[in-house]
Amino acid sequence: MSRFGARSQGPATPPKPAPAPPTASAETPAAPALAALAKEPTPEAAYFRDDGLLNARLKLHARLIDEIDLSKLDKLDDKEMRRQVRNLVADFAREERLPLNSAEIEQLGASVFDEMVGLGPIEPLLQDDTIADILINGPFKVFIERHGELELTPVRFRDNDHLLRIVNRIVAGVGRRIDESQPMVDARLADGSRVNAAIAPITIDGAAVSIRKFSKKPYDLQRLVNVGAMPTCVAEFLHGAVRSRISTVISGGTGSGKTTLLNALSGAIEHKERLITIEDAAELQLQQPHVVRMETRPPNIEGKGEIRQRELVKNALRMRPDRVILGEVRGEEAFDMLQAMNTGHEGSMATIHANTPRDAITRLEQMVAMSGMKLPPESIRGQIASAVTLIVQVMRLSDGKRRLMSVTEITGMEGNVVQMQEIFGFRRSHTDPDGSVRGEFRATGLRPKCMDEMIRRGIQYDAANFDPQTALT
Ligand SMILES: Nc1ncnc2c1ncn2[C@@H]1O[C@H](COP(=O)(O)OP(=O)(O)OP(=O)(O)O)[C@@H](O)[C@H]1O
Ligand SMILES: [Mg+2]
Repeated sequence: MSRFGARSQGPATPPKPAPAPPTASAETPAAPALAALAKEPTPEAAYFRDDGLLNARLKLHARLIDEIDLSKLDKLDDKEMRRQVRNLVADFAREERLPLNSAEIEQLGASVFDEMVGLGPIEPLLQDDTIADILINGPFKVFIERHGELELTPVRFRDNDHLLRIVNRIVAGVGRRIDESQPMVDARLADGSRVNAAIAPITIDGAAVSIRKFSKKPYDLQRLVNVGAMPTCVAEFLHGAVRSRISTVISGGTGSGKTTLLNALSGAIEHKERLITIEDAAELQLQQPHVVRMETRPPNIEGKGEIRQRELVKNALRMRPDRVILGEVRGEEAFDMLQAMNTGHEGSMATIHANTPRDAITRLEQMVAMSGMKLPPESIRGQIASAVTLIVQVMRLSDGKRRLMSVTEITGMEGNVVQMQEIFGFRRSHTDPDGSVRGEFRATGLRPKCMDEMIRRGIQYDAANFDPQTALT
């Protein structure tokens, strides 16, 4: 067991080496060239080669979508479709001289079939656990993010209608719809992956779909340390702080790793506590036994029935939570969240979209103002200062790595200004020729005030870690 408690899974396997960069990705090939790519394996398809059958499957899929009239496909019954697909697979295997026995042909046929009725050509990408994001820019450009880097894939859809059919399948799966009058939708795949789809008229070159893959093996603190996101002693400090119910806000830009860190930190919460999570699209994977998960609801076709985060936070407070965990605070619910933190639900946590800890406070202040409460700015700031103790800033750096940049403590008010002090910070020194960002973590030398509370709660933490003289590892 690791030092961060029961949830940790020991050292993570070292990350796989990044795939060879696509040779022709600098300028994006035109659609016909991409179509050819999907049929002929090229260096751009290189990363598919680690799975022997995957390449064949992709190639076959490209051929099937050419040979089968897709608009009729949805009308065929399952059995007939399976039969047709199996026959095509057998023909293909013969032509390509694939060394497959009939059981393997059956298996390949079944997986191609699943791709066709599932999420089409992107199905293999969904199955590949090394892929973090799938970004579809119209039918002929599908990008993935892997190890922090974006790559173009040879995956393509037959045309925009084909892509739209898949988009419809996704949004129908969560009981929503997408059309010209409502061209943007948030949805979630059956496996928990988060999806945003936008179509014409608000996208110009075909449907745009962004999928944040659900991580089957969520990061815990130990794994974040192993990938270099933070040093061990910072992880230990945060673990102790969360365990002793120090209210924490995680701040960062889009895709900087906020939700991942929130999830990892939640591992420090004791199993006897009752937790309520509130999200727009449930992403958190808390390991505690006593969790109530809540999700907002968008308005229906008549624009009615919307349930917003604010109502959920209010409701959560009537459900006797020990802590409320808000996936992302974005608006008016900030007021209710601060109230919760100030009224016996210490240790509540949230993420916020901001680039610096100071910026996070300003944004919180603006959000509270959105709640319609006519509070003077000093009083809002006072509420923030007494509710939130730690702000943890994360960032996606230019080399694609996600790092914890700073742990900052809010210490109170001085006049009209919220006072804060940084405890730990990452200092960039230089960038290597290959683009890697170099630097080190150091303590600032200030002893956090919340240490007293942590000690009262029985947390032992080595004060030597606050020494600014040595780089932290
Ligand atoms: N330290 C890390 N090292 C490597 N990958 C990470 C790290 N932290 C997060 N990730 C990966 O980065 C992606 C984005 O992470 P996450 O969803 O936590 O970001 P976010 O800031 O919450 O994004 P959003 O702004 O979209 O809500 C995920 O695929 C996640 O697995
Ligand atoms: Mg997030």
